Amino acid sequence: MSEGAAKKEEKPGKFQAIRGTRDLLPPETALWNRVEQTAREIFGTFGYGEIRPPIFEPTELFARAVGGETDIVSKEMYTFVDRSEKLELHTSIGNLGVFLQKVRQLYKSGEISQESQDQMGLELVENQSKKVNDLLAGTSKSEDASRDIYTLIMLFEALRLGNDISLRPEATASACRAYIEHNMQQLPQPVKLYYMGPMFRRERPQKGRYRQFYQIGAEVLGGTDAPAIDAEVIEMVMTFFEKLELKGVQLSVNSIGCRECRPKYVELLRAELLKVKDKLGPDSQRRIDTNPLRVLDSKVKEEQAIIEKLPRIGDHLCKQCADHYAAVKRELDLRGVKYRENWRLVRGLDYYMRTTFEITAQGLGSQDAVCGGGRYDGLVELLGGPPTKGIGFAIGEDRLILSLQESGKAPVAQGRDVYIAWMGENARGTAVRAAKALRSAGFSVELPPVEQKFGKALGQADKLGAKYALILGDNEVTSGEWTLKTLADGTQQKLTEPQLLDFLRKS
Ligand code: HAM
Repeated sequence: MSEGAAKKEEKPGKFQAIRGTRDLLPPETALWNRVEQTAREIFGTFGYGEIRPPIFEPTELFARAVGGETDIVSKEMYTFVDRSEKLELHTSIGNLGVFLQKVRQLYKSGEISQESQDQMGLELVENQSKKVNDLLAGTSKSEDASRDIYTLIMLFEALRLGNDISLRPEATASACRAYIEHNMQQLPQPVKLYYMGPMFRRERPQKGRYRQFYQIGAEVLGGTDAPAIDAEVIEMVMTFFEKLELKGVQLSVNSIGCRECRPKYVELLRAELLKVKDKLGPDSQRRIDTNPLRVLDSKVKEEQAIIEKLPRIGDHLCKQCADHYAAVKRELDLRGVKYRENWRLVRGLDYYMRTTFEITAQGLGSQDAVCGGGRYDGLVELLGGPPTKGIGFAIGEDRLILSLQESGKAPVAQGRDVYIAWMGENARGTAVRAAKALRSAGFSVELPPVEQKFGKALGQADKLGAKYALILGDNEVTSGEWTLKTLADGTQQKLTEPQLLDFLRKS
């Protein structure tokens, strides 16, 4: 290999953000911050406080809350075993017995949460390890020792040596877990929480769909299930979108009934779907078995005419659900919130009952749902807490930002108020002091770390979009009168430090 080729090979490889994840960079992050700040302000006026739950939780929390059969839990979660730090893997096979004993102890003490097959797996490894030990000690013989050792390795690999955890695909489950864990039912009810942060789902990336995406969400837990709560939650999101001047906002609402009426409707739907099964695509066919409601969600063109003829849940709600839904709509009218009814709006998470809603916005293509939510009475109970009412929503922040950008809300690059052009050792100290004074007065200041010729400094100030250049040379330092240049028109003026601060405050 030539020396050149060798050098080329030595160059370390570059990294790229993992598929479906991305860096949010300035100036775009300024828009993200503004959106988040607006959410805090608006949600604050409705009496919500912020919760910051962890990014990972036990897998079982999401499986139970969101539903084991849902796409989110069955295909899209980032799940891994968090190996117990009490287990140090002994490299020599002789210590495997000690290691396995430790595993047994950790299962027993509950430190590693155990499922029925874990116990069986552990026994298989113990038996196989004994067999291999005997082989190695020469106390027994085997026709195929390598296969026995290989089996031991495979069984060992399958052993769960820690707890199953998942990156959160959503945060409603965490909010409910926290409500229970911190006995929030003892606080004045309802408890109103909001959150913002990254969520993780292994979906096929496309415009508006990422594997790490951001949600801004809110949950109302406890108290009554008064329809006014449903309406106020929706009113809050709409107020937020209005404040951001989001374009093309469309709210769809529905009621998907309760534990009483929904199962009967689902059975009816299943029976009707079976009659037209042959005309449906493979996804919908599968869902007749697993979750017939999700067939209503189908976007497959050929299925639309068939779906439109299916029985509608609105005609099969029990009296309480029908009354609740009617009252939610009245409460929305009272608040001047415009909505459309969409009987096919069923949502992709299992915990919903009664009110469901979704909001779409302009400029998003096929992934146009910018917010989804609904009522989930009973979820807290399902997670081991007291019977508790609940309702909430989550906004897809990435999509919200995309829609804002598409409608021309471009973030403005962060300029500087003042660029300090200094030259000479005497000026250095004055420049540092001036930067400190201006920053503490709230102005953004760029102080070049090394001396620059004035011409170059002014060019740099221009490139950074600075409004003013503060010119500090020997003359300025001696006279105590600083030169301030307005970059837009090139005018200059001489100012003392107090005059400068005064001028900037007024400009
Ligand atoms: P969700 O409908 O699964 O509901 O998600 C809410 C919103 O998050 C969606 O409308 C969408 O804007 C955004 N979103 C979801 N997946 C992605 C993705 N892969 N990339 C970009 N954005 C995405 C929930 O998560 C519920 N926890 C909402 C809720 C709160 N219901 C009651 N309380």
